[in-house]
Amino acid sequence: MIIARSASELRAATTGPISFVPTMGALHAGHASLIRVAAADGSCVVVSDFVNPSQFGEGEDFEIYPRDLDGDATIAEQAGAHILYAPDVSEIYPPDFSTTIDPGPLAQELCGAHRPGHFAGVATVVVRLFGLVGPRRAIFGRKDYQQLAILQHVTNDLALGIEIVGVPTVRDADGLALSSRNAYLSAAERSLAVTIPRALRHAAEAYAEGQRNGGVLAEIGHNALDGVALEYLELRSTDLGFYDPNLPAVLLVAGHVGTTRLIDNIVLDPTAPERAATQISTKEYA
Ligand code: PAJ
Repeated sequence: MIIARSASELRAATTGPISFVPTMGALHAGHASLIRVAAADGSCVVVSDFVNPSQFGEGEDFEIYPRDLDGDATIAEQAGAHILYAPDVSEIYPPDFSTTIDPGPLAQELCGAHRPGHFAGVATVVVRLFGLVGPRRAIFGRKDYQQLAILQHVTNDLALGIEIVGVPTVRDADGLALSSRNAYLSAAERSLAVTIPRALRHAAEAYAEGQRNGGVLAEIGHNALDGVALEYLELRSTDLGFYDPNLPAVLLVAGHVGTTRLIDNIVLDPTAPERAATQISTKEYA
């Protein structure tokens, strides 16, 4: 695997169609799963490793966000990456950079309502990275469900001609979704954090048993949360419109455990209702 510190080093190293995995580093098994999907079709796999300042708000964790290029290189290479692209801020945002991509109304909802400007920062950096990397397809995690939906929308709207691929959430044995931010959690907070997937799982079990009332499903989720300062817990259609009991839905949650912001979601499908509950490990009940 080659570590490219600039776009020209990156271009010199790529061959053939590119599958691209954008990340902010602090790689874990969730990122590795995206990289394995990228590598599965034999394409040239580029992983970007860039903590994007423009998607962090005032008072958020940009300064303390974990950075570990050596550790990232090991994980990326083992998962099948060919190039790890770790640019400087000055290459992504040169002094005369002045464009911002506004992804539209969805960027103001859910996480966007609590993190003003976040999705504009994400969309802008991802489109710039698309331009620098030139991928045929790009791989994202469904853990960041709203981010994936917004980037699919932006890619369509701007006719970028890049296939967007979504990959299931990788979880710890007790169900907590892997996240670079889990590193911030103390042992006590880590045990509270598991109530997030537990809440999703409780709601999914009720759904599997036939419960379709959105208010009831949300209440079941709320009741299972403990020690989480909730930002939102919302049931939506899978395109993030209004919940329709007859269509596939997604239950999304965001909140803080201590000072750490965590998000998660689960898809509920009326044609395969039992599948939802199995998205989250049952080991915590063993
Ligand atoms: P980051 O949080 O590093 O995540 C990079 C990619 O890994 C995203 O597509 C995210 O959804 C995916 N991912 C994270 N945790 C996962 C898990 N447990 N299972 C599966 N996939 C997981 O998301 C970003 O970076 C940034 O916003 C970025 C898109 C790189 C733009 O800066």
